[in-house]
Amino acid sequence: MTDLKIRRYEEDDDEVVKEIFTMGMMEQVPASFMHMLKQPLMQMLCVCLFCTLMATSKSFLLPVLAVMLLIAGARRMVSYLFNCYLDENMKRDMAKIRETYLTTPNSCFWVGEIDGRVVATVACLPAEKQPECLQLKRMSVRRSHRGQGIAKALCHTVAEFTRSRGYQGVILHTSVFATDAQYLYERVGYQKMRQFLNPLFARILNFSLIEYRLNVQP
Ligand SMILES: CC(C)(COP(=O)(O)OP(=O)(O)OC[C@H]1O[C@@H](n2cnc3c(N)ncnc32)[C@H](O)[C@@H]1OP(=O)(O)O)[C@@H](O)C(=O)NCCC(=O)NCCS
Repeated sequence: MTDLKIRRYEEDDDEVVKEIFTMGMMEQVPASFMHMLKQPLMQMLCVCLFCTLMATSKSFLLPVLAVMLLIAGARRMVSYLFNCYLDENMKRDMAKIRETYLTTPNSCFWVGEIDGRVVATVACLPAEKQPECLQLKRMSVRRSHRGQGIAKALCHTVAEFTRSRGYQGVILHTSVFATDAQYLYERVGYQKMRQFLNPLFARILNFSLIEYRLNVQP
């Protein structure tokens, strides 16, 4: 990982940054779908649908097809929910990266570049509910460049920035399905603080977020 260059975001990076963010986010769809299939409500729906159709139609094929259709519909719904979440984020900070992250002294947006190509992103800004902390956001590394320590280097950049600005720590939220991210944050010293339901997906998916914190002051 000798060639990694970490620099501030520039306007020309806009498209590639959005692409890396989108890919990182959509990677969570399969794991979220599997999680949805394990929910008791979903399993009950499948069983009820199967038994009702079996009893009324006296056919085996129809209930099987109906359950498969229900599962396919559920998969589409998970994708739809993630697309909504993505759209929402694209309309907020990702629509105005410069304005959100680069016009105040305590925020920043970085990209990781290898051989002149942007392959990773990370950002931070003051945490809304914890004024002594900055919040790490938009951590994402292209699949082709994973496992080379790029995310670790980006975490160090954020920690150093946080320390230099006199904040006590860095917090972040990640999903329960983002296991690679959980490994990463725990490897660089973050501690798990709490787990809470994601307001957008909570009712349908029982989908939790984890809050991590890293203290940066000695
Ligand atoms: C999470 C993510 C940023 C990690 O990027 P990366 O560049 O591959 O991570 P690194 O190579 O710097 O690895 C950092 C540490 O995490 C660990 N790690 C990363 N992925 C792992 C995995 N799948 N299994 C076990 N450990 C893993 C590594 O062991 C490494 O520690 P080590 O070098 O001491 O062994 C990347 O997988 C990603 O972009 N995922 C999709 C988007 C996402 O989930 N973002 C986080 C949102 S909060």
